[in-house]
Amino acid sequence: MGGPPSWPWDLPLVSLYGAGVTGLMYDVPFVATPEVVARRMLQLARVRPGEVVYDLGSGDGRIVIIAVREFGARAVGIEIRRDLYEHSVARVRDLGLADRAAIIHANFFNVDVSNADVVTMYLLTSVNEKLKPKLERELKPGVRVVSHDFEVPGWRPIVVEEVYEDWRSHKVYLYKMPGREVPVPGRAVLVDDDRLRKVASLIDGSTSLEEIAVKLGVTLRSVREAVERLRELGAVKEVRVIK
Ligand SMILES: C[S@@+](CC[C@H](N)C(=O)[O-])C[C@H]1O[C@@H](n2cnc3c(N)ncnc32)[C@H](O)[C@@H]1O
Repeated sequence: MGGPPSWPWDLPLVSLYGAGVTGLMYDVPFVATPEVVARRMLQLARVRPGEVVYDLGSGDGRIVIIAVREFGARAVGIEIRRDLYEHSVARVRDLGLADRAAIIHANFFNVDVSNADVVTMYLLTSVNEKLKPKLERELKPGVRVVSHDFEVPGWRPIVVEEVYEDWRSHKVYLYKMPGREVPVPGRAVLVDDDRLRKVASLIDGSTSLEEIAVKLGVTLRSVREAVERLRELGAVKEVRVIK
């Protein structure tokens, strides 16, 4: 993948950052995750077709592109730098991925990420710490967060893996948002869709969405969609989140 143009004013920005002048500029300078590491991050997160991946600070868009092309995901990158945003939008368009990949030109602190199944980050420990309350507030239980090289302070990773690439090694931290989502039965309704009927038959007020997905051998997302449909029909009263 060809890199974006390198901008001469990167260095002053980086040194401003070092001097602690945040607000005025980016939280983290652009350094790309090597593709082999990006691929491993998505493998560790077990990204499945149709899932939604967010890359916070998406740089040249490589993680978004790999998630869509190689994992069949839908992916969203959020990038604050206009040059990188424009570069990645053009790349997504040229590759014909615009129906499954989106790049948002924004500060990731201001973008709602609550429909993510997987979040990837290559930021800094201090930025991860600032993002933590937002992620804890917005992300559903079971969402996987993968961070390249920098931990999320106070979270316990379920996997820490060293990935070797050329001359250096990279650490990948995998986290899973805790908690259970339990659908509560509503009123009895006639359901003619076989898939919905199977999901409905397992809803008893104590079985979680994840457990239903495992029992049926289907993705969590497809169970979530079925439960949403059942909620519209009145067969599910609510989905209780037990964090
Ligand atoms: C270390 S790079 C990682 C790029 C890409 N995720 C990857 O792994 O290849 C961090 C990126 O985050 C962007 N960034 C920094 N602060 C940001 C913010 N507050 N909102 C959105 N993007 C930000 C930077 O411009 C940079 O492109």
